[in-house]
Amino acid sequence: MKKKLPESVRIVEVGPRDGLQSIQTIISTQDKIHFIDLLSKAKLPEIEVTSFVSPQWVPQLKDGAEVFSKINKRKQTIYTALVPNRKGLERAMASGFQSIAVFVAASETFSKKNTNSSIRESFDRLVEMQPLWFEADLRVRGYISTCWHCPYEGYIEPSKVIPVIKNLFDLGIDEISLGDTIGKAEPDEVRVLLDEVLKRWSVSDFALHFHDTYNKALKNVDVGLEYGINIYDTSAGGVGGCPFAPGAGGNLATEKLVYFLEEKNILTNLDTNYLSQAVDFIQKVITRENGKISIQN
Ligand code: HMG
Ligand code: MG
Repeated sequence: MKKKLPESVRIVEVGPRDGLQSIQTIISTQDKIHFIDLLSKAKLPEIEVTSFVSPQWVPQLKDGAEVFSKINKRKQTIYTALVPNRKGLERAMASGFQSIAVFVAASETFSKKNTNSSIRESFDRLVEMQPLWFEADLRVRGYISTCWHCPYEGYIEPSKVIPVIKNLFDLGIDEISLGDTIGKAEPDEVRVLLDEVLKRWSVSDFALHFHDTYNKALKNVDVGLEYGINIYDTSAGGVGGCPFAPGAGGNLATEKLVYFLEEKNILTNLDTNYLSQAVDFIQKVITRENGKISIQN
């Protein structure tokens, strides 16, 4: 069922994690800290700071604990760490994170390539992690990758996504972010999935995570807004992509979304001056030259 446009949108800034995870040149810890400090000053309500995945798989983010210990934390911002398994969760907790993001996929092949596990095995990992996050009263976000297209399997039917959503909610996940990992979703495909999802669950439990490989992200945000979704994941400067998804471009750029929403009189409550500084800074650090995605599988 279609709803009226939201009055405000909550932006989850994933640049420091999704943006930097696939950059070939290692970004210095100092530069990451400065980037995140600018994003905090830009008043982003949530910043995904880093991931605690295997440093063999993603060496770019192996300094996550140091980064988190040295950033200036703003009271009103939620700082989140992405974790793949119990070991990653323990590392995130030891670093002091109170918000984590876990991730699974709707496509078997992508799940295998990204986490060396089937979808079922990735849920086994979540089951192993759940008592820990429950006990520590952590806030938990859940990503589902390849909700529309998989780089290996092509179009993904909503019937593959729905059970994954159900299993995440059964584990007590607070918010689910539906990911267009390679930026191939068409607006009509977004509608088809949202029709199925929102007849089962509440719109306020969902975020949309669009990569902008083919410049379709804003069209898809438009569809999300039409359906009443008011949480969107973006990355300042549009950097990023998953290193295990061939063809994945950067996330929808935070600044692009902010200006798009401003034109619709939808509030984001960000400080656009600091946001521009963050974008300028990270774009200088990562030239498009050395920012090519490194395919490891
Ligand atoms: P594996 O090799 O099968 O792991 O990787 P394992 O359990 O067999 O362990 C192998 C070794 O890694 C062991 O060490 C473990 O201790 C260590 P050894 O005994 O050989 O010395 N290890 C770890 N070390 C540190 N931290 C950890 C950790 N886990 C194991 N957390 C694993 C399985 C899941 C760990 C690996 O596949 C992995 O790290 N994958 C993550 C890949 C990734 O980060 N992808 C990008 C993020 S997802 C994304 O971008 C999509 C998203 O943006 C949404 C969208 O756009 O769709 C969220
Ligand atoms: Mg992503």
